[in-house]
Amino acid sequence: MTNTTTATAVTSVASEFRCIGCGASPKSPTPTFRCADCDDLLEIIYPGWKTEAGIRAAGLNAASLKALWRQRRKSLIAADRSGVWRFRELLPPIDPGRIITLREGNPPLYTLPRCSKNVGIPNLLALHQGMNPTGSFKDTGMTVAATFARHAEFQWVACASTGNTSASMAAFASHGGMCSLVLIPEGKVAWGKLSQALDYAAFTFQLRTDFDGCLRVLHEVVKRMPIYLLNSVNPYRVEGQKTAAVELLEQLDWQTPDHVIVPGGNLGNSSALGKAFLEMKDLGFISNLPRISIIQAEGANALVRTVHEAGGKKLISVHAETAATAIRIGSPASWKKAVRILEATGGTVEEVSEAEIAVAKAEIGADGIGCEPASAVTLAGLKKLVWRGFVKPRETVVLILTGHALKDPEFTMRLHRGELFTTESENALLARLQHAPVVLDANVDAVLEAMKHCHTTP
Ligand code: F0G
Repeated sequence: MTNTTTATAVTSVASEFRCIGCGASPKSPTPTFRCADCDDLLEIIYPGWKTEAGIRAAGLNAASLKALWRQRRKSLIAADRSGVWRFRELLPPIDPGRIITLREGNPPLYTLPRCSKNVGIPNLLALHQGMNPTGSFKDTGMTVAATFARHAEFQWVACASTGNTSASMAAFASHGGMCSLVLIPEGKVAWGKLSQALDYAAFTFQLRTDFDGCLRVLHEVVKRMPIYLLNSVNPYRVEGQKTAAVELLEQLDWQTPDHVIVPGGNLGNSSALGKAFLEMKDLGFISNLPRISIIQAEGANALVRTVHEAGGKKLISVHAETAATAIRIGSPASWKKAVRILEATGGTVEEVSEAEIAVAKAEIGADGIGCEPASAVTLAGLKKLVWRGFVKPRETVVLILTGHALKDPEFTMRLHRGELFTTESENALLARLQHAPVVLDANVDAVLEAMKHCHTTP
């Protein structure tokens, strides 16, 4: 593939599938993206990157690529305006004219002034992937996987989802002229997300099961019909999601943060970000890795238990329950990839309670940033990592905020109206953060009187 925006000739290196278990390199993947020999997950690798000659031939020189990627920010070409395809040298090759893009990526990196003070970490930042076109990080992987689905001439794509994947898939499928099939757990998907799937014209089936049950059914469906699976077991999704780490490094002027903290559900995102940092180091963009830590809800803590109780060697599935519905997952598909990232980067796992999630969500909101509940586990987890001494006060920490605040307004309303919890201790934790709407008569005195009861915090 030739770069069309600048004189610098850069070519994507040919990519291959490789099984993470037995190392087999299938020419084409099975419908479930699992190895035909050992049933483990596939990943995408770039054999050309392994040799000096390969790197030179592909123009993968770190200094010139950094300049090229920055230069593309000024371009008017769709592939360059995408915060994913701007880094296309790190992705499987495809003609830029054939990509399906909604100008995804380009997530803002925010400071969190109050949270930073409260948690005692002056260098606290949040990469807000909720600022993507459909409001979650899923868009960065979906642009790549949907593009390759269309390239392989599929007319149908499908996913099982806790909501965000389906919203994103539906948008990219419809934009690219494909039909989409969504399987979601009945009654467990936030309205913001479900309404998006409908709006973007997906065929939506609510199954009487949980996310894990939906995924099991979908695996059987794609074996029987020519439908392209777009869950994060699809390694093209992982490749697209990698670019968030590259964006982060670019925004930090290629200085590696000490810690990156990610929510853990099906564990595709932590695996993708980790893969990116490892590749960035291999290719000479950075000299050290951040520690990547993964935070789960106590009620959906399969990875935490897998690490603590089985040394990361065998998955301990759980029956998942949490109001952070995006991460209500009991058998994370990418657990092995995530364990490898924890080991490779020296990261850790942590779990947080429902009340801790709610408090953290309100705190991120009070910094004017906002996020959905699943994203708030990062701040809740950080507090515990600081108490544990795993994160030190002088270190730079980046929280990965995965979804927009408007995804789950019902959670936010219930939080502020004091309807989330029944115990006094949980409600007491939230009291100082609540801003329930107050109904008044329509006159100035009523407003001024009510204002006397507003507690402002500096
Ligand atoms: N945060 C949000 C907002 C999510 O939607 C998800 C996953 C995660 C975190 C966890 O990411 O699965 O890569 O570990 N949502 C999926 C979905 C499962 O169907 O939308 P993960």
